[in-house]
Amino acid sequence: RPRVLSGIQPTSGSFHLGNYLGAVRQWVAQQETHDAFYMVVDLHALTVVQDAEALRANARIAAAQLLAAGLDPERCTVFIQSHVPEHAQLAWVLNCLTGFGEASRMTQFKDKSVKQGADRTTVGLFTYPVLMAADILLYRSDAVPVGGDQRQHLELTRVLAERFNARYGETFTVPDAFIVPETARITDLQDPSVKMSKSASTPKGIVNLLDEPRSSAKKIRSAVTDTDTVIRYDEEKKPGISNLLTIYASLADTTVAELEQRYEGKGYGALKTDLADVLLDWVTPFRDRTREYLDDPGTLNSILAQGAEKARAVAAETLALVYERVGFLTAK
Ligand code: TYM
Repeated sequence: RPRVLSGIQPTSGSFHLGNYLGAVRQWVAQQETHDAFYMVVDLHALTVVQDAEALRANARIAAAQLLAAGLDPERCTVFIQSHVPEHAQLAWVLNCLTGFGEASRMTQFKDKSVKQGADRTTVGLFTYPVLMAADILLYRSDAVPVGGDQRQHLELTRVLAERFNARYGETFTVPDAFIVPETARITDLQDPSVKMSKSASTPKGIVNLLDEPRSSAKKIRSAVTDTDTVIRYDEEKKPGISNLLTIYASLADTTVAELEQRYEGKGYGALKTDLADVLLDWVTPFRDRTREYLDDPGTLNSILAQGAEKARAVAAETLALVYERVGFLTAK
């Protein structure tokens, strides 16, 4: 079985609809076809200031959501990044292989560092993509299921893998990004020109999966569309309605073409009301399942402990090989 690995940040508790449709949904599908590793990336979360207790709580909430979304610890490995020290260890080696200019060209870094200002931007934010490369290469992943915003980081990961292999001999698998084009970029419900995101979206523009379901349904019903009335997918001219069609098709397991047919001659209101119901029907049990995992810390802890053990077995083997290749002395 080919291997996949991916990660999600435990930022501020709830996942949003973009995280789910762009990434986690694919993770659930790929546990059936791949040797799959999925993690909560708490090391990455530290690149913005975090309250310690909140970070700890959010890592658990993130793990509970992954299970609630359908990841099955019998079928895949679910773990917390900080439980596997090899991630930070490999990141150091890769840091020494990454050009300063190369890292400076990462657009997410550029955007975020401009927003934060030079004095508040940490070196951790700068090397964030290198840590991400370490995450992926440690497991010799064949594919990495992510949303479109991670494409450039995947490109850097491939470059670093090839560079290491060329310098030290075949060691890493050069991974492919696995990006589903239809759901690669779920947009903000109030401003369809930007992606739905924790940092940029207004409360009305983002659907957080753990919010009160009725309030999420309401956000769908008041999503910004256009003054036309025809329900047709057209990203350029009708970005708002196109985003709703994408969300609808994905959640209801149908196609945009089928929806266009179904809603021919009907107004935006009908589509929004139905999509709000579809969302409500999905998100309500999701939220309940998340709550159940959080109410049973024994089970959650043991799933994560088991996940960490399985992950470490793979990670330690790769790191040992890397340490040997780069010329570190063995301790015994
Ligand atoms: P993060 O936590 O920002 O997002 C998790 C996943 O959700 C996807 N995503 C979206 N997809 C579609 N539309 C959107 N509006 C949207 N917003 C977010 C992201 O592309 C991502 O797949 N750097 C990563 C975490 C990471 C990682 C890794 C991923 C760390 N190490 C190793 C893969 C492999 C991140 O910050 O994702």
